[in-house]
Amino acid sequence: MTDAWPHLLDHPSLVAGNDSVPDAVQLPVVQVDDVTKSYPGEPPVQALRGVNLAIRQGELVGIVGPSGSGKTTLLQLMGTLDRPTGGRVRITGLDVATMADDDVAYLRATRIGFVFQQFFLAEHSTVIDNVAVGLLYAGVPIGQRRQRAVEALDRVGLGNRATARPTQLSGGQRQRVAIARALVGRPAMVLADEPTGNLDQATGQSILALIEQLHQGGSTIVVITHDHTIAERMIRKVEILDGQIVADSGAAGTDPRRPWARLAQPRTRVALTASDVRLGEEPS
Ligand SMILES: Nc1ncnc2c1ncn2[C@@H]1O[C@H](COP(=O)(O)OP(=O)(O)OP(=O)(O)O)[C@@H](O)[C@H]1O
Ligand SMILES: [Mg+2]
Repeated sequence: MTDAWPHLLDHPSLVAGNDSVPDAVQLPVVQVDDVTKSYPGEPPVQALRGVNLAIRQGELVGIVGPSGSGKTTLLQLMGTLDRPTGGRVRITGLDVATMADDDVAYLRATRIGFVFQQFFLAEHSTVIDNVAVGLLYAGVPIGQRRQRAVEALDRVGLGNRATARPTQLSGGQRQRVAIARALVGRPAMVLADEPTGNLDQATGQSILALIEQLHQGGSTIVVITHDHTIAERMIRKVEILDGQIVADSGAAGTDPRRPWARLAQPRTRVALTASDVRLGEEPS
């Protein structure tokens, strides 16, 4: 465990969704400040050029832009899968740059869920094991992992397919398994990169309906897409072009047309306390 930051975790403003903390002082789930990202090359690629974005608990956000605009790069930085070249990324108030790799990995495992276009399921594992693996690095004991996996599968409507293998499922069902895996750790947010990109129109619509339903249940969800009609379905729409945010309809509540009522009420509290963070603990 690093000594540098756990004391910060006791601050009441870090309790995302805590009703006793006024919204104005509640820290965003993710905050990106003046972030740049360049990839080495001749010449280097400036994938992000000064991005500012804050997402609060309960939001449903679509980030939309054409191919190559920097969407996946931004998702990787928001998800702590990569580090920025410049600027700062904070997850529930914690500055990723000041944290050791192990601490970032633990933060990621416990606070962030991912959904990808390609599903990334283990084909030879059962559905329930594919979901339960989402809890492995959070130090949840095996018995609880399976129980919580069943609950997550119920939430995506696949409770009856727990013992199937991904090869026996349709594309839409596979993406539901991936969504259950993202949700099982009750993350502070779910980041989805083109979640309907490999699905036909009707199946994609049902996945979007599921995402909306999960948001209504309290999940904070960011959907990355090149498709404006998908982004329009989200409550907040952020447009990215050539590595810069060029439009942002704004967080719910900051605009009179988007009152707080449209934010989902948190179903579960995300409380960061020092005792909550047991870094380096081996999963049993
Ligand atoms: N690992 C990398 N090395 C070098 N350049 C990269 C790398 N990853 C992305 N890029 C470049 O950075 C820019 C942004 O890429 P990114 O993948 O973020 O775009 P995107 O908006 O997700 O596009 P798409 O809709 O096609 O997925 C592109 O010019 C891309 O070629
Ligand atoms: Mg991409």
